[in-house]
This record gives sequence, structure tokens and C-alpha cells, in this order.
Amino acid sequence: MLTCKKHLFSIPDGITYLNCSYMSPLSKPVEQAGINGLLRKSRPWEITIPDFFEPVEMLKQLFSRLVNVPDAQRIALVPSVSFGIAAAAKNLVVHQGQNIVVVDEIFPSNYYSWQRLVEENGATLKVVKRPAEAVGRGKLWNEWLLDAIDSKTAVVALPHAHWTDGTLFDLKAVRNRTKDVGAALIIDGTQSVGALPFDVAEIQPDALVCGGYKWLMGAYGLGLAYFGERFDNGKPIEENWINRLGSENFENLTNFQPAYKPAANRYCMGENSQFIAVPMLSKALELLLEWGVSNIQDYVHHLSSPYLLELENLGFGIEATKWRGSHLVGVRLPQGLDFLAVKKATSERGVFVSYRGGAMRISPHLYNDDNDFERLMEAVKSVCL
Ligand SMILES: Cc1ncc(COP(=O)(O)O)c(C=O)c1O
Repeated sequence: MLTCKKHLFSIPDGITYLNCSYMSPLSKPVEQAGINGLLRKSRPWEITIPDFFEPVEMLKQLFSRLVNVPDAQRIALVPSVSFGIAAAAKNLVVHQGQNIVVVDEIFPSNYYSWQRLVEENGATLKVVKRPAEAVGRGKLWNEWLLDAIDSKTAVVALPHAHWTDGTLFDLKAVRNRTKDVGAALIIDGTQSVGALPFDVAEIQPDALVCGGYKWLMGAYGLGLAYFGERFDNGKPIEENWINRLGSENFENLTNFQPAYKPAANRYCMGENSQFIAVPMLSKALELLLEWGVSNIQDYVHHLSSPYLLELENLGFGIEATKWRGSHLVGVRLPQGLDFLAVKKATSERGVFVSYRGGAMRISPHLYNDDNDFERLMEAVKSVCL
């Protein structure tokens, strides 16, 4: 069992940060990697041609280990989730009369590209509603999702854990269903990968896109994506010199090269060498691999469980453990409890959580301990007891 890693972060004593799903704090080693990266640009004569490529290759290797992809060339660096999703949408064919399935209140970066795709092709977007039931909601939502996928479904676009309340979608069952009907499966792993195990070999999504600044614990502005074989001959959003074969030979760049580097490299963003953000994200992934993603999930599970039980006893609505992770839990307030009063009580005590879709979103990590949850409980009890 992992122990609390607060000493590796710069979180002051008065702050209870239970908001990793908003953005993670940087750990000190990641902070240092960023400072080193920043300072390098003051001495550009020391930045060599291999420096454009080798750290990127290392980052791809680390991410492929994290999500179990045997070939690191299937990993692309993306500036945002919307960029990765747009690249997938650009290369998926949807015909008139077909549909694309998403879930209610999906994060917009995994929505707008699909909305445009259906609009331009006379297809429809099927949004699987979130059941109103307080009990058994996650199970029912998953059932409705499977029911929505039919012979006319061209694409299913989902998160693993829903960003508002952490509801988990059974991606294996969804993958089986999409295979039955020949639909593509595109996953936004931003609110799960890094804190909840995700195995590409097991789930077999066609693409997996992850922002880097939440559970991957890197800087803002650099994320990672996996693209499967379905995308091997696709068109990237931007045509960047660095993604073409032989781009390591800077003297030869204007001998224009028609061929891309293999697999997913064509989907890498321009200027992907990112001398600051790449080493930061690599260091963050090294730490995650050292800690072990399932150990992180276990840690937050053991830490939060007694307090979540207490919240349930106070009348808060919490999804059954089978249908949620423990790193991101949306806690629905009891009827009649003043939302603004809860918000005020938490912020007055330096307790940072998010409020999304009528739920208080609690998202702990290894830097949290019992003190943090006790402060959260003190704030909650101050308004409901
Ligand atoms: C599920 C999910 N996807 C993506 C993002 C960020 O998207 P983008 O990188 O396009 O800004 C967030 C941010 O909150 C998110 O919660």
C-alpha cells in the first residue's frame, strides 16, 4: 500500500486540495524538469537535433507502458483533447442515416467534433441520457448506453469515468457491442488514465485521447493520444515537417517528403518537441509508473471510503462503488441543502473541490490524507448538522 506523497508537492498546510480532476498540482520533480526545460532555451547552442526527437520518443514509450500499447509509434502528442478527437473525427466516415453515440453531459471536447460530423453528413447524434434514479443509476446508464448502439451506429465516443460525477462506463462491454455493429470506439481518458487502470490491449479502442494536466500530472497544453490501425492511412489536422519520414535530417527538409513516419506519428501536433512540457510529462509518467496506477486507485479508495460512507449517512447521493472510481466522485447534495452554503463552507476552510452538474466533485490523489477529508467533513457538517 502506498503512503501519502504530500512531501513531493508544494501544497501549503492551510490548503486541502481535493480537486485533481480540475488540474493536478505539479510534483516537485516535475516542477524541476520544467525549470530545467525553460532554462535550456537561454542556451540554444546546447539544444541539438536529437533533442527534438529523443525526449519525445521517451515520452511515447512511457505512455505506451502506462496504457499497455506494445508499439510506442501508436502514440501521438496532442495540444488538447479537442485536437485528438478532431483528428479521429476527420478520419471516420459517417453516412446519412447513421448515428454517433455519446453520453449525456459529455465533456465538450469530445462532443463538438461529433456534432459537426453528423451535421455535415446527414447523420444523427444519439445522446444517452443520465437516468434520474438515485439508486442503480450507473448500472442503468450503462444498460441504456448498450441499447443505444445499433446497426446504424458508426462511432461511439465516451469517457471512461464521466467528468462530472465519475460514473464508469463498461468499455469492454461497449467494445463488444461496437464490434458487433462495426462501429468505431473513441475514448477520452482525461478523467481516468493515470489514476484508474486502462489497458489498450484489453479494451481495444480505436483511439484514446488524454489531456496531460490532470491525472497524468504534467503541464497544461500537452496531452497524449493512442491511434489504432483504423487510422493508419488517415489525414492529420495539420501537416507538420517533423512528422514526415527522415525529418531528423534538417538539411534535407525542403526535399519535400510525401511519406509520414509510421503508425500514429502523423497525428502529432506541430512543434511537438516542447522542450519544457515534454520532460515535465515524462517525469510525471515516470512517477505514475513507479507508484503504479492501481496502487494510486487503491490509496484513494482506502482513504476516501470511510468519509464517503459518512456523507451517504448524511443523505448525500453517491454512486455504487462498482460504477465509479475512487479518484473522482460526484456527491449529490441532499434535497433542501443550500448549494451555495456548502460552497461557501468549503472555500472558507481552504477546501478545494469542484461543483459540476449539481454535484460536489471530490477528486483526491496521493498528496491527500485523512486531515484533508476531515476538513472537508467539517465544512459539510457545518451546513448540514
Ligand atoms: C473529460 C475531459 N476531457 C477533456 C478535458 C480538457 O479538454 P481540452 O484539452 O480540449 O481543453 C477536460 C477538462 O476538464 C475533461 O474533464
